[in-house]
Amino acid sequence: FSLKPYNTFGVDVNAKYFIEVYTIEELKNAINDSKDHDLPVLFLGGGSNILLTKDFEGLAIKLSLKGIEQEDLNENEVLVTAKAGENWHEFVMYSLEKKYGGLENLSLIPGNVGTSPMQNIGAYGTEIKDIFVGCTVLDLENLELKTFNLEQCHFGYRDSIFKQEGKGKYVILEVSFKLTKKNHHIKTEYGAIKTELDHLGITNPTIQDVSKAVINIRQSKLPDPKVTGNAGSFFKNPTIPLAQFEDLKQKFEHIPGFPNGDVVKVPAGWLIEQCGWKGKQIGNAASHQLQALVIVNATGNATGKEIYDFSTQIINSVKEKFGIELEREVNII
Ligand code: EPU
Repeated sequence: FSLKPYNTFGVDVNAKYFIEVYTIEELKNAINDSKDHDLPVLFLGGGSNILLTKDFEGLAIKLSLKGIEQEDLNENEVLVTAKAGENWHEFVMYSLEKKYGGLENLSLIPGNVGTSPMQNIGAYGTEIKDIFVGCTVLDLENLELKTFNLEQCHFGYRDSIFKQEGKGKYVILEVSFKLTKKNHHIKTEYGAIKTELDHLGITNPTIQDVSKAVINIRQSKLPDPKVTGNAGSFFKNPTIPLAQFEDLKQKFEHIPGFPNGDVVKVPAGWLIEQCGWKGKQIGNAASHQLQALVIVNATGNATGKEIYDFSTQIINSVKEKFGIELEREVNII
């Protein structure tokens, strides 16, 4: 069964078995089947953060649980709960239509609601931890439901319990967010948003304006996975000790960095570009010409192995030039 339509890289690998599930019952049945037949399981959400490097000799389960519910919390706030299979951007657009604030900076992020807590998705000054209330998961050991609140998720930069101790133990079924009905917190600190709002001639932005600005920025530099296969940022932005950053500054005067206490976050896109990778193609894989941090399936025919090997070459050259070891953000399977 080809998984090509189920990963945004558009890599063509096969799973031995495949099932799409729409309810918790169907999900449990599929998991029980895999246990009975001793098959490994691969859960597929939006497929926007995985790189499939070989055929999967097990059961691939596509999570398509749908539905959005809301509950007023008070005059100003509403709790909105979306099932795992809801498309993230459609969910953001749905809340904006209802005039709920909180998700606007996260417009146009590929993927589904169910995977958003895994890596605490974030962009343009917001991370989901800022509005997250809790999620319900299925515990794969006993097939019981369990909830995780904000604190229990251990959110960090592109990180959560689901990538650490909880890795491989749970399937996220639904996620709840606390959104505002009025007195929205408009976040325009991220430089590019300000520039885009100026460009649009907007001085007093609404949540809809912020969303529009974010959409424009993303469309201007990130490739549309429907057109060119990719999984967004391929690497995390590395954090290095302040002393190391100061040493680098001696040698590379223009190195950008965002200090945070005694560490500095350095944009991986800059490091990769400085190594000459931006827009460069080897075989079917390339670094995107407008954002070096994004690796693309340039011809549509790249294999997962080819993309993986390409990423290894980038890691090696950044390591050699800057002494910084980039970490992959995308899940390698
Ligand atoms: N830069 C370059 N060359 C490049 C790309 C970036 O020099 O080719 C430098 C520039 O100095 C730029 C800086 O990097 O000012 C930051 O670039 P950008 O604003 O595009 O953000 P990023 O750090 O590259 C991160 C996230 C994105 C998110 C944006 C906006 C990570 C790994 N990536 O990228 O997330 O959309 O910030 O908040 O943190 C994703 O995770 O898939 C993703 C797209």
